[in-house]
Amino acid sequence: MTPVPHDGKLSGCEVLLVDDEQTIVLALRDSLKDAGATVVTASSGDQALNVLAAKHYDVVISDVRMPGLSGMDLLRKLKQAAEYTEVILMTAYANIEHAVAAMKIGAYDYVTKPFPNEKMVRVVENAWTTARLRTEVRDLRCGRAYDADLGFLVGKSDAWVKVLDRVRMVAPTDSTVLVIGASGTGKELVARALHVTSNRRDGPFIKVHCASLPPTLMEAELFGHTKGAFTGAGQEMKGRFELANRGTLLLDEVDEIPLEVQVKLLRVIQERVVERVGSGQSIPIDVRLVASSKGSLEALVAAGKFRQDLMYRLTVVQLPLPSLAERKDDVPLLIDHFLSKVGEQSGRHCPGFARPALDLLLAYDYPGNVRELEHIVESACALSDGKTAIGPELLPDGVRERGKSREIFKVGFAARPLSDVVEDFERSYLSHALREFKGSRQDLARVLGISRKSLWEKLKRHKLAGSESEEP
Ligand SMILES: Nc1ncnc2c1ncn2[C@@H]1O[C@H](COP(=O)(O)OP(=O)(O)OP(=O)(O)O)[C@@H](O)[C@H]1O
Ligand SMILES: [Mg+2]
Repeated sequence: MTPVPHDGKLSGCEVLLVDDEQTIVLALRDSLKDAGATVVTASSGDQALNVLAAKHYDVVISDVRMPGLSGMDLLRKLKQAAEYTEVILMTAYANIEHAVAAMKIGAYDYVTKPFPNEKMVRVVENAWTTARLRTEVRDLRCGRAYDADLGFLVGKSDAWVKVLDRVRMVAPTDSTVLVIGASGTGKELVARALHVTSNRRDGPFIKVHCASLPPTLMEAELFGHTKGAFTGAGQEMKGRFELANRGTLLLDEVDEIPLEVQVKLLRVIQERVVERVGSGQSIPIDVRLVASSKGSLEALVAAGKFRQDLMYRLTVVQLPLPSLAERKDDVPLLIDHFLSKVGEQSGRHCPGFARPALDLLLAYDYPGNVRELEHIVESACALSDGKTAIGPELLPDGVRERGKSREIFKVGFAARPLSDVVEDFERSYLSHALREFKGSRQDLARVLGISRKSLWEKLKRHKLAGSESEEP
């Protein structure tokens, strides 16, 4: 058999290879050694247990059918005694029930014989990565500092630091997390942060948007389908759960998921197996779930739109995100972050904001949260000449108006009847409006949200210019 080229990917990895068939053992041992692993062999399950009692191995590869202790028994014992060893089973008698059972007990993979040795080397490489990450997480839980880089989650405000702490705390666990936040608060970014700082970071991060599809397609999207399972199912397809195997699956806007699909989702979460639409075959999955929703799921449960049992499964850990208005301190940092992001993406220098524009940006409330701020920065940069600092004229009307209305409402207390103050305010506001507004009276009335007649009456009452001449 041709040896696998030595790329040293397994250097440092200790493998125990268990099989009563010597030909397989020898060929595989050589391939693994070529890849840099240290390999010890055993010809039976019982012998393997003795070897394992003396020393820790990162990965154990074992045949299933052997005289004496079977590969499954060895797996069971190993998972009790050496939780951090990854076990790969191999068999010439592939059987789906066995495969499911093995995965449930904790096997890393189940490989059917015969296989090219290169394939097994790759499986061992992945298993070893998982083994190392799991040990890292164990160390972390034991208190060893873990300096996960969450730098891409910009913000230093108290409210945001609480979010970061929570992310650091729950990421290494496999708990299901529900990220709750209004539109644009960073739900998807936080879900990604949970993935990249977890022990699954080398696995896939897959997202499924629960609001965009009708129930039948949603099911096929999540669980996959067989060829011809429904009209349009031209070929067999893996679902998002399968694609996310050994990684993280984000159920985005889970509050929108149709009730019909909720029942099936619940079963998958409970049993950790999926069945592709049109197939009765159970496929084991190893997925960490993160869900996102605009609000808490309790209200939906009360309204009969969400299953309570599913809510309990999804809300093992809740991670509420603050609105940007609740973390105004972060606006300057976010502006800088988006300025450099735009600069990098467009390859064009963006001069930044002049003080008056910055003041308006700091005063604004951002109903669309971080996403809105990002768009404001992007569009201002796109409109700027690339040289002069950006002024208020390049900000959206809403931001400028909000700034103006803030100035207008700057009033003190003068111990006067409210009706007088309101009258004074109306007169001063209308006189400003007359001076500033460049359109017709009819347009001004529309902007103020009153009829033309009512505007005319007010102007007359306040003795403001133009009232006599423009009687409606
Ligand atoms: N703390 C943050 N630091 C840097 N960028 C952020 C932060 N929060 C959000 N963003 C950016 O803001 C945008 C919106 O974030 P994201 O898509 O994660 O929000 P969301 O809550 O999922 O929004 P929606 O409800 O609209 O789907 C993204 O471009 C994201 O990169
Ligand atoms: Mg989103």
